[in-house]
Amino acid sequence: MESWRKPRPQQPGENAPSIFAVVMRIFSGIQPTGAKTLGNYAGGFRQYVETQERGEAFFCIVDLHSITVEYDPAELRDSTLNLYAMLVATGLDPDRSTIFAQSHVAAHAEAAWLLSAVTSYGQLGRMTQFKEKSERQEFLSAGLFTYPVLMAGDILLYQTDLVPIGDDQRQHLELARDVAERFNTRFGETFRIPEGQYPEVGARVMDLQDPVSKMSTSSPLAAQGVVRMLDEPDTIRRKLRSAVTDSGREVKHDPAEKPGISNLIEIMTVATGESVEEVEARYDGQGYGPFKADVAEAVVELLTPIQKRYRELRGDDRELQRLLAIGAEKARNASEPTLHSMYERMGFVMPASGRFFGAARPKGL
Ligand code: TYM
Repeated sequence: MESWRKPRPQQPGENAPSIFAVVMRIFSGIQPTGAKTLGNYAGGFRQYVETQERGEAFFCIVDLHSITVEYDPAELRDSTLNLYAMLVATGLDPDRSTIFAQSHVAAHAEAAWLLSAVTSYGQLGRMTQFKEKSERQEFLSAGLFTYPVLMAGDILLYQTDLVPIGDDQRQHLELARDVAERFNTRFGETFRIPEGQYPEVGARVMDLQDPVSKMSTSSPLAAQGVVRMLDEPDTIRRKLRSAVTDSGREVKHDPAEKPGISNLIEIMTVATGESVEEVEARYDGQGYGPFKADVAEAVVELLTPIQKRYRELRGDDRELQRLLAIGAEKARNASEPTLHSMYERMGFVMPASGRFFGAARPKGL
């Protein structure tokens, strides 16, 4: 039989006819602003690379989210390209995955407005990230409050199955699931209900100086407890050497009793791929000193090749812009059918001339 007649099994990332379309959809987002951290690597970048192998993956630079707190427009422009380069430097393949900027796909802003009709005001007020961030802001924007609705739209527009994220986004994902269910009940089955994927170890990398708080991108740049993806090797060594540890000298994973050492063990597993048990066994009876020095070297070894690739890619603005344009086109095509169904099911009159500016007009108009 000629090969073209044979139904070929679906390849990941391929838009096969719907009868074969059982490919898993993966979606995640990351904010462009702020120097990315080892925490972002553990819960974000590292998982993106792993999940892109498992289905049709979309990774979104969520620039619309970045304007909900104090920010600098010139920095936003630059950091969007920085983040694209970092996503590729950490291992995403622009041919295989769709990498794009949120503001390039109008469906995201539209979906957020439509979904705000089925989002509970009370639930938004209970978001821990809103409560924490609002304490730090002098001016509290409405966008910071409705931020999780935009995030729900990001995910739901792509009929996402799996959302690779760190632990701090758990509550936002729960809200996205609630919003999807409420919409489906009220207007008819429209959205797939997404599942979160959290790393087994490293889902919440903690601040080295304050290991009961999350390592946060928005900490001041000079913060010694935050390792940035682009830190110089000596800066990384200094930050890890001065990491707060606990009393005793046993290298043992026990987050309640030994938050500092447990965090360093997790960082070691993120950097080397070893298990917690392997790390504990290797440093059995050795005390904290050699362990901390080795964690620093492991992180330097992890980040050095990433930084090198990043610098090569970041040098070519035009190429990054070109790749962003391709990503936007793919993302528009993938999200449009869902947005269309949302409008239709919610009872809007569909514009006869099509939704896009310049779309071909039907005969007679
Ligand atoms: P953002 O930009 O703050 O973080 C990007 C990813 O990094 C993870 N992360 C961490 N993981 C482990 N330990 C840490 N200390 C740490 N800090 C950050 C985050 O969990 C995240 O996975 N609201 C999102 C962006 C977003 C999004 C989405 C995510 C917008 N739309 C749709 C998923 C799906 C955020 O601000 O992530």
